[in-house]
Amino acid sequence: MTSRYYEVYDSWKKDPEEFWAEAAGEIDWYKPWDKVFDADAGVYGRWFTGAECNTCYNCLDRHVEAGRGDQAALVYDSPVTGSKRTYTYNEALDEVACLAGVLRDMGVGKGDRVIIYMPMISEAAFAMLACARIGAVHSVVFGGFAAKELATRIDDAKPVAIMCGSCGVEPNRVVAYKPLLDEAIEIAAHKPKSCLVFQRNMERASMIEGRDLDWAVAVDNVREAGGQADCVPVAATDPLYVLYTSGTTGVPKGVVRDNGGHMVALKWTMFNMYGIEPGEAYWAASDVGWVVGHSYIVYAPLLHGCTTILFEGKPVGTPDAGVFWRVIEEHDVVALFTAPTAFRAIKKEDPDGKLVGDYDLSKFRTLFLAGERSDPDTLEWAENMLNVPVIDHWWQTETGWTIAGNPVGLGLLPVKHGSPTVGLPGWELHVVNENSNPVPTGEMGAVVVKMPLPPGCLPTLWQNDERFSESYLTTFPGFFETSDAGYMDEDGYIYIMARTDDIINVAGHRLSTGGMEEVLASHPDVAECAVVGIADKLKGQIPAGFLVLKTGVNRNPAEIEKEAVKLVREKIGPVAAFKLAMIVQRLPKTRSGKVLRQTMRKLADGDDFNVPATIDDPAILDEIGDVMKDRGIIG
Ligand code: COA
Ligand code: AMP
Repeated sequence: MTSRYYEVYDSWKKDPEEFWAEAAGEIDWYKPWDKVFDADAGVYGRWFTGAECNTCYNCLDRHVEAGRGDQAALVYDSPVTGSKRTYTYNEALDEVACLAGVLRDMGVGKGDRVIIYMPMISEAAFAMLACARIGAVHSVVFGGFAAKELATRIDDAKPVAIMCGSCGVEPNRVVAYKPLLDEAIEIAAHKPKSCLVFQRNMERASMIEGRDLDWAVAVDNVREAGGQADCVPVAATDPLYVLYTSGTTGVPKGVVRDNGGHMVALKWTMFNMYGIEPGEAYWAASDVGWVVGHSYIVYAPLLHGCTTILFEGKPVGTPDAGVFWRVIEEHDVVALFTAPTAFRAIKKEDPDGKLVGDYDLSKFRTLFLAGERSDPDTLEWAENMLNVPVIDHWWQTETGWTIAGNPVGLGLLPVKHGSPTVGLPGWELHVVNENSNPVPTGEMGAVVVKMPLPPGCLPTLWQNDERFSESYLTTFPGFFETSDAGYMDEDGYIYIMARTDDIINVAGHRLSTGGMEEVLASHPDVAECAVVGIADKLKGQIPAGFLVLKTGVNRNPAEIEKEAVKLVREKIGPVAAFKLAMIVQRLPKTRSGKVLRQTMRKLADGDDFNVPATIDDPAILDEIGDVMKDRGIIG
């Protein structure tokens, strides 16, 4: 089949408003828009101004009304607890409407923020949809973050209520969430009025009188009293959620998502990008705490009338490297979306793919990878094992959906390993130098997007238009700065190679090395420090911390390194995977005092590098190299 990509891309380019207005026809609106795009609204314009809608209605009620009530909406599959449960659209709607009634009775209303700190259980998805139902703005915080990170988000979002699970279940331990929540509320200046706690049997939470409510009891009460909440119409431009993501400092950025444009864009992607028909089972093996979980575990599959899989487990060890194939077979999954790191983990455990043959994958059509660069080795391995197209696609928390990909529904373009293919309709990509001028084909530069951003992307940062403009719109006037570097080839294929800021990607999780440096610098014995992301076979990158001690500190260095590791785990969380702290005599710097982090990274990764002409003292690189040799980082 020849691809319709170029034809559809041209139709978008010719008339973006017409293009998105047509896509918006797939969504049910209470009130149509006055303008498809209002260039004068918001920081850079807003999509579907004047329109009213409800995201939960479009995810659930609409499908029940259209006769999908008995179809599975959500399948919860949890190898870590040995449980499974399927919710039909009827059942999911009932759960969500009851939970929304609970929130309403707790005093949560339109525009109020609700923080959700939950493990990967069905109730996490219901919590998001219940907020959407009553027009409240949810902010999901990933369970692997520690109390302090949660507190930072509480102080920024100022939630009226928090929804939390008593614990998460990791393969090697049960993680009690509630004590972390209690500690976070203790640390935070803002205090939520109430917390709704979902008690799991593995670890029941102790409750605080007058503040904490038992989730199951509250839902049952609403159900018995017939107090289910109806959908509340909201403006298309009202926020649906705020999702915090790592920025260049320890203070995360509150990425805002609206209701209208978000629905239009996600619904459009389900067929055009992913090639999925309503009624099919779609699985994003991510976590609701990340953007992939928001867009492709919860919202997009439900908007499209699909069955979504919510998986509480890991690609390996729960119980083995065949679990992905088991889930695909058992739930008739047609497409899987995960991070390359998951496939590196499977490949390591089962290099010959022996377990693949144990399962019937005949319904499985496509594997999608994102979250980090797909290394061609892993991609080829997956292609050979699964015998289906493996599609790398590039996006960010900020965009909420694919910037560049190979659109299955529009017809596949030739796959080039190492490239997520081409900009989708909505995205005009350029590779530029620091003066915003295009660099020649094949040369590395900053990858930027011509403004305005399409529907579904962030209109701003939560209550911080200024930081939004500074972070994304100022460096390259007229363009959105993605902070990714890469190049474009002669066919217009884009290659995303590295971040231009201090963000690193650890097992598909986005983390700020600046944030880690802030934590390490708070250690009483540390004078200065640098954290760099170094290559790791499994996780893509891992953070390595270099510490210079204060003069006169005379303690056992190994002890201090251990304390540094513990500190990052306590303050940021286990998700940082910070396990490598090294004491060094000095940090390599330019004469103006800038730490040469890129050079340190290249040294660790064994990449070629030129010693910068501005380096203060080249001997420092030798000292650092010796420490890396001692730790086995370099040979
Ligand atoms: N709650 C509490 N702790 C969590 C957590 C959660 N929700 N998720 C992860 N953690 C902990 C892990 O237990 C681990 O702790 P440890 O240091 O005590 O072992 C730590 O955070 C790091 O977790 P992770 O990065 O997941 O590493 P892992 O070694 O447990 O597993 C992989 C490695 C590759 C199997 C795993 O990272 C994976 O499946 N990645 C998929 C990536 C993904 O879903 N990305 C989302 C974007 S698409
Ligand atoms: P996040 O906001 O957590 O989704 O992380 C976004 C970042 O992950 C991007 O800015 C990229 O650096 C990286 N990323 C995501 N997808 C890809 C991809 N397909 N190829 C290369 N890098 C990617």
